[in-house]
Amino acid sequence: MKHEELNLAVIGLGYVGLPLAAEFAKSRRVVGFDVDAVRVAELQRGYDRTFELSDAELLGAKGLSLSCDPDDLAACDCYIVAVPTPIDNSNRPDLSSLLSASELVGKMLSPGNIVIYESTVYPGSTEEDCGTVLARCSGLTYAKETMPVGSQVFYLGYSPERINPGDKARKISDIVKLTSGSTPEIANIIDDLYASIITVGTFPAASIRVAEAAKVIENTQRDVNIALINELAVIFEKAGIDTEDVLRAAETKWNFLPFRPGLVGGHCIGVDPYYLTHKAMQLGHNPEIILAGRRINEEMSAYISSRVIKLMLRHDINLLGARILILGLAYKENCPDTRNSKVFDVIASLTDYKCKVDVYDPRVDASDIQLNPNVTLVESPTPAKYDAIILAVAHDEFVSKGTVNIRRYGKPNHVLFDLKYAFEKFETDGRL
Ligand SMILES: NC(=O)c1ccc[n+]([C@@H]2O[C@H](COP(=O)([O-])OP(=O)(O)OC[C@H]3O[C@@H](n4cnc5c(N)ncnc54)[C@H](O)[C@@H]3O)[C@@H](O)[C@H]2O)c1
Repeated sequence: MKHEELNLAVIGLGYVGLPLAAEFAKSRRVVGFDVDAVRVAELQRGYDRTFELSDAELLGAKGLSLSCDPDDLAACDCYIVAVPTPIDNSNRPDLSSLLSASELVGKMLSPGNIVIYESTVYPGSTEEDCGTVLARCSGLTYAKETMPVGSQVFYLGYSPERINPGDKARKISDIVKLTSGSTPEIANIIDDLYASIITVGTFPAASIRVAEAAKVIENTQRDVNIALINELAVIFEKAGIDTEDVLRAAETKWNFLPFRPGLVGGHCIGVDPYYLTHKAMQLGHNPEIILAGRRINEEMSAYISSRVIKLMLRHDINLLGARILILGLAYKENCPDTRNSKVFDVIASLTDYKCKVDVYDPRVDASDIQLNPNVTLVESPTPAKYDAIILAVAHDEFVSKGTVNIRRYGKPNHVLFDLKYAFEKFETDGRL
């Protein structure tokens, strides 16, 4: 079998699935499937609410047919699954979307078909969790070695996604892609398939579990490193030293890693480590550094609020009913995604101090947001209204206009706190 002969379907058309389906659809036919009929209808009109693809890019993906009807998957023989893998309220992996997508695909499978997962999981999940559902729903057997054509088997692959939403410089084809498959032959076909769209090349991992583990440690390593710098930021504040000054000095050494302090939100870096720790605990190992890092990063929202409150008190600002403007609600810069944004926790903590909080984020769709009734998502901040302003997300439109533009929202006696150290120290009243 050659990769060109595969009839592709991409299941889940979010931040990951849509750009992937569109990239393949430049050169082949692809069915893009999503259970969200509203999302599919928007995409059919050429509108991507994640802004990962422009209208022109979407309409230019000529081979892409979009659907929320499982019957449209009937002619497909290779399924790429890119559905969410969040955590529940107790920080345990929530595989419900992954398993329901596997059920849907399982019901469509024919002998010899390939199912490739892109969702982030813990090592073993593709074969043990998803493979089991696929086998039950299809009546086929999961093949770990290549079987003669017509055998009642299906094959698996895993190719984790590494896209960086909002990053227009590093698109899907510019990021090396790990690939893997359940047999050497299937691994080769899957690698060829991705190599046909990834211009910078692919890396065939030694096995599906290796590829799963590699993905989950990429984000875990980042989380732990940020936690270290967050802890240093807390120490340096107590010592009266500016963290950014220290980091700029330290990174003149060739092997000092350029991490920065901050909120760790979103659905990857703050979530994926829990997938790994879940698996570790199943295996009887109690992870220490990973969970310590998670705890430190989770505590940063309350820490940042306390810094801003102290700053206001030092400027003789009465806290009761004080007006605070937060610039940015998305979990990261230049992106409309607010899922698991830690700015929500900063807001909650500030409203606990009886402050009144307005949030301004021109990238975010207000209809998607559930805010505490005391908090307003403003369309445009009112000048001279605020006692404190927090730059929480370094969207280009905030940073490029500079602090003079931002400070015009403040009352004559106000403080500006730069959570993203986007400005020079002398331009703000405090920074992380
Ligand atoms: N967004 C990122 O930056 C990023 C980067 C790398 C990896 N990942 C991983 O990729 C996976 C997908 O993330 P995302 O950000 O694209 O999620 P997303 O929420 O943006 O999109 C997921 C899509 O899947 C659809 N969906 C949910 N259940 C479905 C089902 N049973 N059948 C069909 N469609 C279904 C949803 O309607 C949604 O449109 C996750 O595992 C995530 O951790 C995400």
